[in-house]
Amino acid sequence: MLIVEHSRQMFQLADHIIELGPAAGEHGGRVVYQGDLAGLADADTATARALRRPVEINPNPLPWSEGFEITDAHCHNLKHVNVTIPKGILTAITGVAGSGKSTLATYELAARRPEAITIDQKPIGTSIRSTPATYTGAMDEIRKLFARANGVGAGWFSFNSKGACLVCKGKGKVTYDMAFAEPVEVPCEECGGHRYNPTALGYTYKGRNIETVMALTIEQALNFFDDERVRRPLRTMVDVGLGYLTLGQPTSTLSGGEVQRVKLSSELHKRGNVYILDEPSTGLHNNDLAELLALLRQLVDGSNTVVIVEHRLEMIAKADWVIDMGPAGGSEGGHVLFAGTPAELTACPDSRTGAYLAAAAQARA
Ligand SMILES: Nc1ncnc2c1ncn2[C@@H]1O[C@H](COP(=O)(O)OP(=O)(O)OP(=O)(O)O)[C@@H](O)[C@H]1O
Ligand SMILES: [Mg+2]
Ligand SMILES: [Zn+2]
Repeated sequence: MLIVEHSRQMFQLADHIIELGPAAGEHGGRVVYQGDLAGLADADTATARALRRPVEINPNPLPWSEGFEITDAHCHNLKHVNVTIPKGILTAITGVAGSGKSTLATYELAARRPEAITIDQKPIGTSIRSTPATYTGAMDEIRKLFARANGVGAGWFSFNSKGACLVCKGKGKVTYDMAFAEPVEVPCEECGGHRYNPTALGYTYKGRNIETVMALTIEQALNFFDDERVRRPLRTMVDVGLGYLTLGQPTSTLSGGEVQRVKLSSELHKRGNVYILDEPSTGLHNNDLAELLALLRQLVDGSNTVVIVEHRLEMIAKADWVIDMGPAGGSEGGHVLFAGTPAELTACPDSRTGAYLAAAAQARA
């Protein structure tokens, strides 16, 4: 059996571990460790270092006074729950699978606070035409720069418009209808999948054509462009740790964690909102958790309320407040077992989350 996994509990169960890295995107793609768990304990890889580090419990959880009262919540399996979700801090809702975490956060809280913003990992812009450049708005400015430099219309730098390859109409792919089988998609031979026509590719800006500009990473693009109207929107992507994406990568191909960070990037400068994130750490490596936590902290620092549904101990430990649901899944769940700080949770005898957290907080040899 083969599983793709990030959580420490799952590593303990594996017979054989393969780690890819050393970093993300173009900085990754190599096997950096292969062997058993014992060998990983001594290895010098990102995963090994993260596993050796004990989970640090938030030493200074933010205090709170006001909150959102939830009374008599009984959606799905909730047992007429009364609980207060603190305002202006980071709250983690925890518990075993099926205990009612998502129901509490995404049904009960969201129903009472219609202005709350739920940030999920569902793809943005499922269209092949959506890219980091279009999503941030940088693309319009890039087109204008090309248009001005070449004295032609901006439409030449769009594969929805004049710039499109005439064969694939800018899709980069051609679909063949087969008489008795599923249609087949193949890369367009005319443009080699790059979607632009030769006239469009003949125009350059600072020595690059539109195709080679779209192949730049966001970090490289920040060096290439001087214009603030291009740089400002791109910087929001670097702020959330996505500077390694290329301008032209279809957003439909981003990982769930990457999508979530793209969505967070447009929220970072807002204040006084309520954000609900259901398992935001899904798919993230331990190293990326710190980055995600820093983003959530930035939201809290901006006077926002942040509520996360979480399983990962590294995340739970860093919250200001924890609401633990249980004791089991389905009809056996739906009770609030505990509400308090992460440190208090480690001392709560009824909570399995508390026991796991206490164990993970012990230093490892
Ligand atoms: N739309 C629904 N209709 C009926 N029951 C539901 C619905 N959604 C969830 N439930 C049930 O309510 C209970 C709590 O589900 P919930 O999704 O809140 O659990 P959870 O704690 O978020 O679990 P997980 O960690 O697996 O996401 C479960 O028994 C689930 O089967
Ligand atoms: Mg859930
Ligand atoms: Zn083509």
